[in-house]
Amino acid sequence: MKLIITENAGLKAAQILKERLAANKNLVLGLPTGSTPLGMYKNIANMYKNGDIDLSTVTTFNLDEYVGLGAGDEQSYRYFMNENLFSHVNIKKENINIPNGKAEDLDAECAGYEARIKAAGGIDLFYGGVGENGHIAFNEPFSPKDSPTRVVDLTQDTIDVNARFFDNSEDVPRKALSMGVGTILAAREIVILALGSKKADALHAAFEESENPAWVISYLQSHPNAIIIADKAACSKLSEATLKRAEVL
Ligand code: GLP
Repeated sequence: MKLIITENAGLKAAQILKERLAANKNLVLGLPTGSTPLGMYKNIANMYKNGDIDLSTVTTFNLDEYVGLGAGDEQSYRYFMNENLFSHVNIKKENINIPNGKAEDLDAECAGYEARIKAAGGIDLFYGGVGENGHIAFNEPFSPKDSPTRVVDLTQDTIDVNARFFDNSEDVPRKALSMGVGTILAAREIVILALGSKKADALHAAFEESENPAWVISYLQSHPNAIIIADKAACSKLSEATLKRAEVL
């Protein structure tokens, strides 16, 4: 796993997109929500505005969605994506995929989502954040390595951390639809962004310990093409040896 240390992770992540787009205009992307990718989305929107990138030929798959929330709910990930990315760039509506948290049959929605990813040829470039407990998308600790897109129960930790986006913690949905660990590991390239000292334990598990189902991020060790872009604070628990191997921007 490659480590890039920079205080401008959003710019680096957007530059990677620009490079990969130049090589393949039909990129299939995995896209995250959360506070971490906001800088990346701002940079992507700027690049589009300046005419540096054209996203009309890409297909996107969001990583997850809360069960019970739809486009009209300000806390839904669909709303977040419309606000922070889709309304600023030229990704075609029909090429945008987000799990439907209001589907009547949630299991069928997940199976259909997995099938749509396969039909698109799989994910070329997966962008993710990481939870304080090491989760990627909503794959909570001990998610199976080969898990597909599915309905998941959120841990109390995650409910507490994400409560900041809701009026009160009772409003945080207890379930979500999440791309699986297997779905993520099947991506041809994985880029994870990690910002701030709250992510330091997750990065420690990713780089300093062996693969451990308690830390989903550590599953990425077996991926041939994974990059973590982190700021200094997120790297504060990494060893000298790991820091020496990192690319520092
Ligand atoms: C949520 C999302 C994850 C995201 C995580 C971190 O739980 N499901 O995909 O990585 O939050 O969020 P933040 O970037 O706000 O720290």
